[in-house]
Amino acid sequence: MSNPSSTPAFDAECQAVLELAVKLAYAAGKIQRDRYETRLQIETKSASIDLVTEVDKACEALILQGLATHRPQDAILAEESGQHAGGDSDWRWVIDPLDGTTNFAHGFPCFTVSIGVEYQGQRTVGAIYHPLLDEMYTAIRGQGAKRNGKTISVSTETKLEASMLVTGFAYDVHTSVDDNMDHFRNFTKCVQATRRDGSAAWDLCAVACGRFDGFWEFKLNAWDVTAGFLIVEEAGGRCSDARGGPPSGASFVASNGQIHEAMLDVLKPAVLEKGSR
Ligand code: IPD
Ligand code: CA
Ligand code: CA
Repeated sequence: MSNPSSTPAFDAECQAVLELAVKLAYAAGKIQRDRYETRLQIETKSASIDLVTEVDKACEALILQGLATHRPQDAILAEESGQHAGGDSDWRWVIDPLDGTTNFAHGFPCFTVSIGVEYQGQRTVGAIYHPLLDEMYTAIRGQGAKRNGKTISVSTETKLEASMLVTGFAYDVHTSVDDNMDHFRNFTKCVQATRRDGSAAWDLCAVACGRFDGFWEFKLNAWDVTAGFLIVEEAGGRCSDARGGPPSGASFVASNGQIHEAMLDVLKPAVLEKGSR
């Protein structure tokens, strides 16, 4: 997707923003690597299964400190501390300091740092780092997506039945009837394989580089998907809500583009029945 604001000065600023996002994601990832499989202080948030550790907080504090030093005017939305109003700036940083906290708390090696940056409300820069694999995924709108500096692209799979999809479940899964089990069943009955990895940001990187063909999930937050959606789009994929419109807080679908309509068709009966999604 092209960037309407593209000028040499804007491109240089995007590059500087990306370099800072990458630096901060590496630094937060190092904390996660160092603390992996060590004893953690674990607390709960919205539900008994919604965990936060001191590592989530330390990673967020490190990123916020870096932004206070280098981009003090920019607004911030960060998972653990919420909104930080900026000064006179068109930029907003959307941060998940540790995506995959439950995995991290169990020593399961799938978690990431996700830093997305919007310019005038549009996803513009993204960096997602998997510290154990040492894989850094990056994108600037209009300039493609990369893994460790090399261009990546979505898969070329055209058939839903030959696709491997990934999803996740929200923290209200114990209590909500909108629990995604119906979709998990429907997709599992018609695709090659379904997976649940526990890091939405990682799932989106895996779509962007063709490891997965598609992703769907409900009730995610901006910090889970801002960087990942840009990376998927810049890798040639498509992102939408479950009805095919712009992604919203209620539903998120990302794919290689080729299987997107077929994925929406599988989601459709539930969309029509429940109306709310
Ligand atoms: C969670 C992960 C998980 C997804 C949940 C998210 P967190 O984020 O991305 O894959 O299924 O909906 O909340 O809490 O580990 O940052
Ligand atoms: Ca998250
Ligand atoms: Ca998180």
